[in-house]
Amino acid sequence: MIIESQKDVTAAVLAELARAPDGRFKEIMAAFIRHLHDFIREVKLTEEEFQAAIGYIVGLGQHTNATHNEAVLMSGSLGVSTLICLLNNGDRGATETSANLLGPFWRMHSPPTQNGGSIVRSPTPGPALFVNAAFRDRAGKPVAGAVVDVWHSSPEGFYENQDPVQADMNLRGQFTTDAEGHIAFRSIKPAGYPIPIDGPVGALLRAQGRHNMRPAHLHFLAVKDGFKTLISQVYVDDDKFLETDVQFGVTRHLVGDYVRHENEPAPAADVSGPWYSLDFSFVMEAGTSRLPRPPISGKARGERPKIPHLA
Ligand SMILES: [Fe+2]
Repeated sequence: MIIESQKDVTAAVLAELARAPDGRFKEIMAAFIRHLHDFIREVKLTEEEFQAAIGYIVGLGQHTNATHNEAVLMSGSLGVSTLICLLNNGDRGATETSANLLGPFWRMHSPPTQNGGSIVRSPTPGPALFVNAAFRDRAGKPVAGAVVDVWHSSPEGFYENQDPVQADMNLRGQFTTDAEGHIAFRSIKPAGYPIPIDGPVGALLRAQGRHNMRPAHLHFLAVKDGFKTLISQVYVDDDKFLETDVQFGVTRHLVGDYVRHENEPAPAADVSGPWYSLDFSFVMEAGTSRLPRPPISGKARGERPKIPHLA
């Protein structure tokens, strides 16, 4: 249609969309156009602001490569990733869920490790952490034989793939749940870490006066036929960034009770000083087990990244 005034633009775009043969595509795009046009009308977007917005979108692509995805980082920083997660899990958003964000650091082929074994594969200073995790279905029945990947950052805030000081696959392991649906392992208490701020996400955070820290957490990915693949994180309850996670990943259900033990014998004889324990129960929902695409495939070479901290 020939446009007479700004009032006609939305109708013109929606009319062309009517040709699309895919119903779901049409539904999503129609809502997107309506909301996008309404948003522009509501804020009365100026030409300069529009140019700046285009620059942000171009920057997302320009700052994305084989080992970094700026678009995922932006989705997290706007709360979109967590919204998608909570709308698609926990009985489609009706109930509490163990599901959480995958994050950018999952690698395939973590070393298979016996229950009770350690995932500390090179000297990693920090307080020892002993984890017991249970996997159950919605009815509370143990999920036996689930394959569970575990991975986390070091007490210095680096994943092994970022850090030449750590052995390949340090603080990563793959476990299989026993007949009671349990896994257990020894590690080191993780630390939080900053997300990169050299691209559009950094500009967004600076404009909002936000810091760029994620609170400390353990990552879990559990797979078993008949269940939806469970991707989860369990957050450290004494972390000062719990309330202001730059990726909005922290849900009430996934704040773990990391218990500090002082002057108590540890489960291993070589532990000296304070140590921590974590017991946590995950719920797996019925569904299709499908592995996500691994965001990274190997260890970075060269120096540790120098990621500044925003105050
Ligand atoms: Fe992480």
